[in-house]
Amino acid sequence: MISIKNTDLKVSRLCMGGCPLGGYGWGNVEKTDLINAVKTAVESGINFFDTADTYGLGESERTLAYALGEDKNKVVITTKFGVRVENGKTTYDNSREYIFKAVEGSLKRLNRDYIDLYQVHYRDGVTPLREVAESLEILKNQGKIRYYGLSNIHEEDAQEIKAFGGNNPFVSFQDEYSLACRKNEKEMIRFRDEFSMTPFTWGSLGQGILSGKYDKNCKFDANDRRSRDIYVNFHGEKLLKNLEIVEVLKEIANERGKSVSAVAIRWILDYLEQSVVIVGAKSPKQVIQNVESLGWSLTTQEIERLEKISKE
Ligand SMILES: NC(=O)c1ccc[n+]([C@@H]2O[C@H](COP(=O)([O-])OP(=O)(O)OC[C@H]3O[C@@H](n4cnc5c(N)ncnc54)[C@H](OP(=O)(O)O)[C@@H]3O)[C@@H](O)[C@H]2O)c1
Repeated sequence: MISIKNTDLKVSRLCMGGCPLGGYGWGNVEKTDLINAVKTAVESGINFFDTADTYGLGESERTLAYALGEDKNKVVITTKFGVRVENGKTTYDNSREYIFKAVEGSLKRLNRDYIDLYQVHYRDGVTPLREVAESLEILKNQGKIRYYGLSNIHEEDAQEIKAFGGNNPFVSFQDEYSLACRKNEKEMIRFRDEFSMTPFTWGSLGQGILSGKYDKNCKFDANDRRSRDIYVNFHGEKLLKNLEIVEVLKEIANERGKSVSAVAIRWILDYLEQSVVIVGAKSPKQVIQNVESLGWSLTTQEIERLEKISKE
């Protein structure tokens, strides 16, 4: 367990990612498997769930609430706003009017009186961060959200956070980070240390490539986003590089009697201190394998082996 900085929220360092729960863009998924994956996570001690209003256009929040049932007030739920999908077109919106509308939708779908942590999914490039914070403060005072954070950080965010002085009200941030994607590492450490925010990593298994089940001939259905070149982890040179990392993960997993996914997650837990690792899962089996990452540590030598092979 870890405390999210400047909050009273205590969460498991492994957070269940809710993107697959939306049932869209991740290939064919069985709803029963998704629901049972959430239940298995709770039974395994996971108390932190990440979702967004845009995942499956609300379906992820609905499925999460349904699967949690009575447990919904015993766990910590974080959701996101700011991605607006209308008539098949996606835009970003952080305006007060939109935030106030978005929060009502999320509360309804989550079937909850409040959101523990409300995250700005993407900045809209127009609304200053101070104004976003003012809107979120109003929701906080109304009891609709408890805390708020950022997602997909940039240098501009750093400048605006600096302007809050020692009173940065954003308690957390999330960005892509894994052995397959270390390009955000410096920035993530900076936001953690300079602004006292808790880092969450997404794409922690490189969208699944670090689970060890894919090879160089992997192919995805058209309804799976990973079929697109933009999902670089599964294409070209990057795929081959990732498979080299997977070989080392497999060796360590064999030596330690752990799943390959568990070792990939453990590396983040050990390497990026004070972090929360978000991992999407589509079945109870995947959750159980991912939970194997908790309660032990990699040795310095094992960390170095993975460090060396994954350096960008
Ligand atoms: N803030 C943002 O903009 C943002 C962006 C992306 C994601 N996120 C959040 O972060 C979460 C995690 O990211 P992600 O879901 O994109 O990627 P991820 O966690 O790296 O990969 C998840 C995928 O890996 C596979 N997998 C998981 N556990 C496995 C296991 N034990 N064995 C084999 N395969 C396994 C599953 O897909 P297959 O079985 O089909 O391979 C699963 O859907 C999301 O769900 C979401 O909550 C946030």
